[in-house]
Amino acid sequence: MDLPSRTELEMIRYFKGDAKRISHFVKVHDFARLIALSENYSQRDMLICEVSAYVHDIGIKDGERLYGRNDGQIQEQLGPAEAEKLLKKLTDDSELIDRVCEIVSLHHHAVKYHSAAHQAIVEADFLVNAYEDGLKREAIKTAGEKIFKTHTGKMLLKTIFSV
Ligand SMILES: [Fe+2]
Repeated sequence: MDLPSRTELEMIRYFKGDAKRISHFVKVHDFARLIALSENYSQRDMLICEVSAYVHDIGIKDGERLYGRNDGQIQEQLGPAEAEKLLKKLTDDSELIDRVCEIVSLHHHAVKYHSAAHQAIVEADFLVNAYEDGLKREAIKTAGEKIFKTHTGKMLLKTIFSV
C-alpha cells in the first residue's frame, strides 16, 4: 500500500470513534489531491500534499485532551510532534516528515504563501470548513479572495458555493 493510504489508515486509528474528524480529513485530502493534480504538482509535492492533508489536524486530539482547546494555535503547537511520531512508524523519509510537519505547524497561516503543498492544504481545508462551519456566502467570498491563490482552488470555491 502506498504511503498516503497507510497514513490514512493510521489517522483513522488515531481518531478512533471520532467520525466527524475522520470525515473532515478524508474530504480535505480529496480536495487537496484534486488541486495538486489539476495544478500539475510534481510527484514529490503531491506526496507531501497528500500526507499533510491526512495529518494536518492531528494536534486537535492532544489539544482537547490536555488543554480543552481545539483552536488553530494549539493545533499548530501540538500537531508537528504528533505527526512526526505517527509518520516515523510509516516511513524513514526524514525530508518528507520534516516538510509535512512544517505544513502542520503552518496550516492556519492561510494568507502568506509558503509552498505549493501548503497552499493546496490551506485551500482544501477552507473548502471543507466553509461547509462544515456553515459560513455565510459573504464571508466565504471575502476570505476566499484573501486565501485562494491556485486557479483550481478559486474555481472550486466559486462552483461549490456560487460566490
Ligand atoms: Fe482542517
